[in-house]
Order: sequence, then C-alpha cells, then structure tokens
Amino acid sequence: MSQKITKAVFPVAGLGTRFLPATKAIAKEMLPVVDKPLIQYAVEEAVAAGIDTMIFVTSRSKNAIMDHFDKAYELETELEAKNKTELLKILKDIVPPNVSFVFIRQAEALGLGHAVYCARPVIGDEPFAVILADDMVEDGTRGCMAQMVDLYKEKQTSILGVERINPADTASYGIVKTPETTGQYAPIEVIVEKPKPEVAPSNLAVVGRYILTPAIFDKIKNTGRGAGGEIQLTDAIADLLKDETVLAYEFEGTRYDCGAKLGFLIANVEMALLNAELKDGFKSYLKELVKTL
Ligand code: UTP
Repeated sequence: MSQKITKAVFPVAGLGTRFLPATKAIAKEMLPVVDKPLIQYAVEEAVAAGIDTMIFVTSRSKNAIMDHFDKAYELETELEAKNKTELLKILKDIVPPNVSFVFIRQAEALGLGHAVYCARPVIGDEPFAVILADDMVEDGTRGCMAQMVDLYKEKQTSILGVERINPADTASYGIVKTPETTGQYAPIEVIVEKPKPEVAPSNLAVVGRYILTPAIFDKIKNTGRGAGGEIQLTDAIADLLKDETVLAYEFEGTRYDCGAKLGFLIANVEMALLNAELKDGFKSYLKELVKTL
C-alpha cells in the first residue's frame, strides 16, 4: 500500500558545541538567518512538502523553540492595538494553519539515532521525514523535502539527501557509496559515519534530509554506540540496507552548514542578498567593503 509522508522529525537536542557560547542557553536551531530562526526555515520546508505533523525532539534549555511555535497572545494584542498589521501577519504566519506540533524530550544527548528513536511512539508504523535544521537548503522553488517526497511517491523506499563535498571533509559527515550513475538518485551500497578521507568510500555526504521507513526503528534499537560514542543514525541505516533499498538523492539547491560558524555567516550573506527589503542596501555595502579587503 502506498503511504504518504505526513510527519517530520526535527532533532534539536544536540549540544551545539561548535557554536558556543551562543548556544549555551539557546538551541542553535533558534539562531536567525537574516530574520528567521533556522528551525522556522525547516518547518516551512516541511509544510511545503505537504507535511502536517512536526515532531521536535528537544532537551533542557530548548524551550525557546516551543515558545516560537506557540501563540504569543500579549504580543499579538499589542500589535493589534497599535494597528501594526504587517508585523501581526509575520507573527501569525509562523504557525501555519492545520499543522500540529509535538514535543518530545531526549533526556540525554545520546546521538542522532537515539533522537530519532525518541519519536517512535508518535510516528508509529508510517514512513516519515527527518530534517536537521542546521543544514539549511535553499532551492528557490518548492524546497528540498518536497523534492524528496516527490521521489518517495514514485519509489516508496527510504531516501537520503546527499551532496558532493570536498573530499578532505569526509570525517564530518555520513558518507555513502552508490554505483556510478549520471542520474540524480541511486541505491546506496555502503554508508559509513565520519570516515577519514583516506578510507572514505566516496565524497557523497548525507546532509540533514532523510525519508525513512518505520523499519529504521528496530534497526536503531539494535544499534550500539558508534562514532563519538553516540548512537548513530548512519549505523542503523547501514543495517537497514541489508533488508531494503535506500536511495541517495542529489537534491537541487544550495546547502548551508549553519551548525558551523562559517557556513552560518555565508547563509546570512546569501539569504540577505535574496531578501527584497535588504538586498539593494546590503549589496552596496558589500561592494564598498570588498574594495577595502
Ligand atoms: P550535530 O552532529 O550537529 O551535533 O547533530 P550538535 O550537538 O547539534 O552540534 P555540535 O557538533 O556539538 O556543534 C546533528 C543533529 O542531531 C541533533 C542535533 O540537534 C542536530 O540537529 N542531535 C544530535 C540530537 O537531537 N540529539 C543528539 O543526541 C545528538
């Protein structure tokens, strides 16, 4: 029976150590790119893919994420009283109509695999999406997850969003090997977490977008601690490969690694240059700035 993707998991319980001290008290997913927190871009991407249940796997000190998607009565009343209709619309648009939000606590940061497993009671026996908000993807059209959901409709199998990276950086990613192909997707033959460049099977990296069948849960359950002492989603996917086809999909669009400072800065610059309100002023500023470099 063909199944629809209606649920997305947003693991936001990581420690965000690469962004300290900014992430001491707030989640890195609340860091803003131009004027929106990373997690809002991620939720908008899920909504654009037809997903209506957003499941956040959170931890202590991540309450700002919950508050962000809650109704802000005082602020709305204040803006209404002052007739600030445009600002009011921005505020109301944060929570799209007919979308439910579910929050689950991951008591200990035991790894991405464990974070996804925490969502099992809400997901049940359905295929689902996983979006890592710190990997932001801008494709200028329908969004990365919508591209993947379209492929899922056709293939009805697990799909990982992948990108070619600098071969020197393989130790920061899950790396897959596929047969040589000129197409946009191919079945994964091998997947390994954070291999050193000299042993990496390719430079095709998994970058924060997954569609998974519910079979992944039993695999995670049986996965021990892997790279970094964490329960790795990659290791569970390696196990899933023994039973099911998992596709690697080279999505369209630009991916920004917003979990790292440089990627986050680049995202801000490029998104500001796409922003109708800011682009002219910002471009003039940048042109003057580069003259001084
Ligand atoms: P990262 O590898 O980016 O780890 O996690 P991190 O802790 O967030 O950041 P650094 O490396 O210390 O700077 C990938 C994704 O998995 C989530 C993170 O929130 C992030 O979205 N995650 C990771 C969890 O939800 N729980 C975990 O136990 C680990």
